[in-house]
Amino acid sequence: MTTTAHGAAYDVKDLGLADEGRRRTEWAERSMPVLRIIRDRFTRERPLAGRRLAACLHVTTETANLAVALKAGGADVALCASNPLSTQDDVAAHLVRDHGIKVFAIRGENHETYYEHIRAALAHRPDLTMDDGADLVSSLHMVALNRLDDLAPPVRRWVETLSPADRKGLVSGVLGSTEETTTGVIRLKAMAKDGVLQFPVIAVNDSDTKHLFDNRYGTGQSTLDGILRATNLLLAGSTVVVAGYGWCGRGFAMRVRGAGANVVVTEIDPLKALEAQMDGYRVVPMAEAARVGDIFVTLTGNVNVIRVEHMRAMKDGAVLANSGHFNVELDLEGLKQAATGPTAVRAFVDEWRLDGKRIFVLADGRLINLAAAEGHPASVMDMSFANQALAAEFVVRRGAMLAKDVHRIPVELDREIARLKLQGMGVTIDTLTPEQQKYLASWDLGT
Ligand SMILES: NC(=O)c1ccc[n+]([C@@H]2O[C@H](COP(=O)([O-])OP(=O)(O)OC[C@H]3O[C@@H](n4cnc5c(N)ncnc54)[C@H](O)[C@@H]3O)[C@@H](O)[C@H]2O)c1
Repeated sequence: MTTTAHGAAYDVKDLGLADEGRRRTEWAERSMPVLRIIRDRFTRERPLAGRRLAACLHVTTETANLAVALKAGGADVALCASNPLSTQDDVAAHLVRDHGIKVFAIRGENHETYYEHIRAALAHRPDLTMDDGADLVSSLHMVALNRLDDLAPPVRRWVETLSPADRKGLVSGVLGSTEETTTGVIRLKAMAKDGVLQFPVIAVNDSDTKHLFDNRYGTGQSTLDGILRATNLLLAGSTVVVAGYGWCGRGFAMRVRGAGANVVVTEIDPLKALEAQMDGYRVVPMAEAARVGDIFVTLTGNVNVIRVEHMRAMKDGAVLANSGHFNVELDLEGLKQAATGPTAVRAFVDEWRLDGKRIFVLADGRLINLAAAEGHPASVMDMSFANQALAAEFVVRRGAMLAKDVHRIPVELDREIARLKLQGMGVTIDTLTPEQQKYLASWDLGT
């Protein structure tokens, strides 16, 4: 860990990469008109003045624009990675050198360093946290519940040096938090249900302007992009198995069909399965899909969706990737026990030998769109991060009044983001006439 001339602590790969990071961040900014409007207002109004904010997000060009907006709002920002493979080192360098943001993230960092960086973000003593997968909030709750054995070693060692009053203050000092993704929201709702949530959390993922666009169009396109960059395989005529037909799965299935693949869907929810069937995909159990697929992609947020029994049934040369939040959707532990390997065959592609057949696993089963490509395009993150910025402001304004539960941002803010996005895209829409307003508000007209 090092400090800059202006005193900000940081741990990034190489500050010499900052120029490239700045250029790429500026390129993303061109596609983020909503966040720009919020940043300009934040610069004038400083709604986050005096706040210490710790964010655990994918360190990408889009996140850089969010961090700059939060800083413009007056926040003192510390940023660590929410995945060891998703950090863009040039962007991390740019944020430290040009904005004095305390970044702790190095692409490819090992488990120990990943959690050392989470520790550094917690040591920032945030009064606001921003998560993508709930790693910061989970760590804070393990401290609150005195479950120190459940903390990753670097965090536990640090917490053990704190006095009981200090530990208490670390958690009670947090006014509230925001959460970016489906998996994090599921964890937080489980904490609220168990009555252990220590502060209110805004589920950014629950905003319509987030999951309808980011999860569907963002994950859809960038997952395809990641697989193509990693493999350069031809999709036309191949069979692609999509596990999970939620927002991400729908988006990916749509895009991969557009590339000419035969798409097979697996699901556990009858409604989603029915929807996939009526959208024109073949829906089968994984045991059956395993025999026909060329490429398998998990987007479920669940664990061990593709297991060794499925891998044994696969064709020689099957390719496996994951785009769900954690690297638990493919049973790689089981594969490790049953197969020989891995042999690195090209960047992001590992070959395993199982029963004499080859199985190719992409990016160690981590989010393929962030590991092998650049994550979601900026235009879609514009809305997700507009939600994050407004959620942070909402927590500061209203956090003290909110129950210790998982909330979504007010629907009016969600619609305002959609309105601003349309404006940014140069799209205008109709407004209700007074007659239509009256008609929609009544039960006795027009029948
Ligand atoms: N790659 C990215 O950049 C990115 C972006 C957004 C969300 N995510 C993550 O992707 C995952 C999915 O998110 P979502 O918003 O689509 O969630 P979702 O809840 O809308 O969809 C998940 C779907 O998976 C299905 N499912 C669960 N277990 C299954 C199983 N064993 N087999 C088949 N289907 C199963 C569920 O029924 C559901 O329909 C989450 O982990 C989320 O955090 C990733």
